Amino acid sequence: MVVPFRIKMVEPVKILSCQEREQRIKEAHFNIFNVRSQDIYIDLLTDSGTGAMSQNQWAGIMLGDEAYANCRNFQNLESVVRKVFGFKHFLPCHQGRAAENVLFSSIIKPGMLVPNNMHFDTTRANIMANGGKAVNLPCKDASKPFEDRPFKGNMDVKKLEEFLSVNSDNVPLVMLTVTNNSGGGQPVSMENIRKVSEICKDFKKPFFIDACRYAENSYFIKTREKGYSDKSPLEIAQEMFSYADGCTFSGKKDAIVNIGGILAMNNHDWFEKCKARLILMEGFPTYGGLAGRDLEALARGILEGLDENYLQSRIAQTQYLASGLKKAGIPVVWPAGGHAVYVEAKTFLPHIPQAEFPGQALTIELYREGGIRAVEIGSVMFAEKDEQGKMHFPELELTRLAIPRRVYTNAHMDDVIEVHKCIAERKDSVHGYRIVKGEGPLRHFTAWFEPVE
Ligand SMILES: Cc1ncc(COP(=O)(O)O)c(C=O)c1O
Repeated sequence: MVVPFRIKMVEPVKILSCQEREQRIKEAHFNIFNVRSQDIYIDLLTDSGTGAMSQNQWAGIMLGDEAYANCRNFQNLESVVRKVFGFKHFLPCHQGRAAENVLFSSIIKPGMLVPNNMHFDTTRANIMANGGKAVNLPCKDASKPFEDRPFKGNMDVKKLEEFLSVNSDNVPLVMLTVTNNSGGGQPVSMENIRKVSEICKDFKKPFFIDACRYAENSYFIKTREKGYSDKSPLEIAQEMFSYADGCTFSGKKDAIVNIGGILAMNNHDWFEKCKARLILMEGFPTYGGLAGRDLEALARGILEGLDENYLQSRIAQTQYLASGLKKAGIPVVWPAGGHAVYVEAKTFLPHIPQAEFPGQALTIELYREGGIRAVEIGSVMFAEKDEQGKMHFPELELTRLAIPRRVYTNAHMDDVIEVHKCIAERKDSVHGYRIVKGEGPLRHFTAWFEPVE
């Protein structure tokens, strides 16, 4: 394996004592989002905006053209977006959820339904905020966390057909999230993308890709799907987007920038509506909430994120962590996803009921034991009451260890494995939590918890 970079600048980190960590997590009301960054040893909260930019990207930052309209960096970004994504129109946005907000506030009417393989939290929240309903149609393999299947991120295409047969009039577009973040970072096959696209054409529905991790998805297609081993990640990405009518994209993931995103589409009328919304919410259509220098880093990062050697080392590091945890007997979603390793917390901590948030409990223990910051992707994020007041829990209670790009070494990953081993030895003493403050679809960001003793 080739690791196609070396380290030129380092940022010091330290680990607090056990007592200090105990104090910090209590002060944070047992919500890891509230802990200060300097009090974290290994920060695996997210892979979003946390990557290390290259010397080429930093050099681009110095070439920022800060003209209000039509700066040179926008033109550079435009030519990269044309080459990679290929849609007729695009708008820069400050990040992925801004693209979602601009899109959904332009096209959704109350009561509309948006199907997806699995919506990410901000996508779901943006649809709901505009009066719509987010519908998940994952393939059957998505709910089998420990079975080795190559494309567990796929959409259930039969269910999509049935869904559109009944609800088509009420569906403004169909989405597909690559890779499927909420479902374990699992990839979507080209075959599935093609099939979803065909169904959308049959029902005359626009097909949008949530493209946050399209480069990692392309690499999985290259290495796991028949017929793609000789194609470059760029060629695979181009083919993926050729089946779609548009995309939302957070550049904070596969474009390895700290801020930035795009909204792209073919439909001219939708584009005009989105442009008007963008001016209101983000800024002029050639900067969309970003400085010229950010546009430049984004343009350069999109190309770097598709480099095959980089993608190989990136996926290998995720695999390294997942294999080490699996070897230590920790129940991880298998095979490993692209950007993160997911521990299935209700299997790891079976004595904690879903109503007491096993994923949140594990997140807190990781900080207590080793100063590691992970994030819950389970019932805190997704449990929902129906109209009759009955609580519905998600199938998987995940604790996500998201790996920032080009930031940590495998020695850090070894520490993460050791910390899990220590928790496993005393896991019967780990207890659940209840929410004392916080509601709504984004409550996980701000909720306060207390232990159920
Ligand atoms: C699949 C997916 N969609 C959308 C978003 C939102 O992107 P951003 O954080 O840039 O707003 C994320 C962020 O993690 C994501 O993983």
